[in-house]
Amino acid sequence: DLQVKIGPSILNADLGDLGNECVRMMDSGADYLHLDVMDGHFVPNLTFGHPVVKCLRGKVPKAFFDLHMMVSNPHAWVGPMQDAGADQYTFHYEAASDDVLGLARRIKETGMKVGVGVKPATDVDVILPLLNSDLIDTVLIMTVEPGFGGQRFMEDMMPKVSAIRSRFPLINIEVDGGVGPNNVDVCAEAGANMIVSGTAIIKSDDPSQTIRHMRAVAQD
Ligand code: DX5
Ligand code: ZN
Repeated sequence: DLQVKIGPSILNADLGDLGNECVRMMDSGADYLHLDVMDGHFVPNLTFGHPVVKCLRGKVPKAFFDLHMMVSNPHAWVGPMQDAGADQYTFHYEAASDDVLGLARRIKETGMKVGVGVKPATDVDVILPLLNSDLIDTVLIMTVEPGFGGQRFMEDMMPKVSAIRSRFPLINIEVDGGVGPNNVDVCAEAGANMIVSGTAIIKSDDPSQTIRHMRAVAQD
C-alpha cells in the first residue's frame, strides 16, 4: 500500500535563513521538502530558482526535493533543476498543455520523478489521458489558488483526488494549500498520500509533533 508522506513547504519559512529552515524541517521528521518555485508570471509572486535549490542541496544532502514549478515555461528549467539536485519535477498542466507528453518524457529521461499539477479551476478529466501514459509519478491537486502560502483549504477539490485514486490505485496523489492537522484526514480519506503543509508546520511551536500528528491522522 502507499505510504503517507508529509512534505513541509518552506514558502512561509524565514527565507533569509532557508538552509537552516530546511535542516530544521528534516530534523523534525519531514519525509520530503516541497520547494515552491514562482516566476512572477504563471503566478503573481516570486520566490527562488535553481541557484538557490543548488545551495539548499548542499545543506540537506539527503532530503527528497519536490520542486513545485509555478512557472510559465516549465521546459526551460528541467536541466537546471536536475543539475541543482531536484528529485521530483512537478510542473503545472496549465503551463504545458501544448506538449504535456513531451515535457513528461523529457523529465523522465533525466531520472527525476515526474509530477503534474492542476490549479483549482482545471478539470481533472483533462489529465486522465496523461496519467494513462505511465510517465507520471505524482499528481498534484492544488487546494488553493497557487501563489501564496497561508490560504484557506478548498475542500471541494477532494472529488478530484477520489476520481484519480479510484482509477489509479498506485499513483502518488499530492495535495497542496491550506493543509494542516484539521483537514489532513479529509485529504487522506479522499486518497491523497503526499501531504504538503506550509504554514501549519513552519509556524508550529513544535514542528516534529505537528508532522508526527499529521502523519498518524492520515495513516489512520
Ligand atoms: C501555494 C504553494 C503551497 C503553499 C503551502 O502556491 O504551492 O505550497 O504555499 O503553504 P500553506 O500550507 O501555508 O498553504
Ligand atoms: Zn506548492
